[in-house]
Amino acid sequence: MNIVLCGFMGAGKTTVGKEIAEITGRKFVDTDELIEKKQHKSISDIFKEFGEDYFRNAEYEICREAAEMENAVISTGGGAVTFERNTEALKKGGKIVFLDASFGAVCSRIGNDSSRPLFKNKENAEKLYNERRNKYLQASDIIINADKPAVKSAAEIADMFK
Ligand code: S3P
Repeated sequence: MNIVLCGFMGAGKTTVGKEIAEITGRKFVDTDELIEKKQHKSISDIFKEFGEDYFRNAEYEICREAAEMENAVISTGGGAVTFERNTEALKKGGKIVFLDASFGAVCSRIGNDSSRPLFKNKENAEKLYNERRNKYLQASDIIINADKPAVKSAAEIADMFK
């Protein structure tokens, strides 16, 4: 069964996911990375050159592919499970875990990293954060408070999948 991590940008999905993969002996995949490999472009360039709708379609295709894996830890992009079609696909192959981090924690993790097209401006990002939180709650099977260090969240999640 796959362990699918969802949550806002900066919630720690990649860091926590790699750690869970290590503890549980699962393969780690990141939907953004799979999209970049397939498109031969960075997420930032895909948004710039083709726009968000194009990215969302590529993301849907990758979610369906990732859901076919058998024992993976799948870290999803921050927008993935805000679309029902992705949630539906991902649920077929695993359980969805929401890394619930406060907006403050998210900001301190993202810092000045400007590689995220939807986190260019803190005010807009906070609005998006508030709009999305309910969607993450609805999409997930398990909710973890993710303000704590990544290793702790990872240990907690790995324990549930023993
Ligand atoms: C997005 C989050 C990003 C990436 C893309 C869109 C979003 O992933 O998929 O920039 O809509 O929140 P991370 O959450 O890994 O930063």
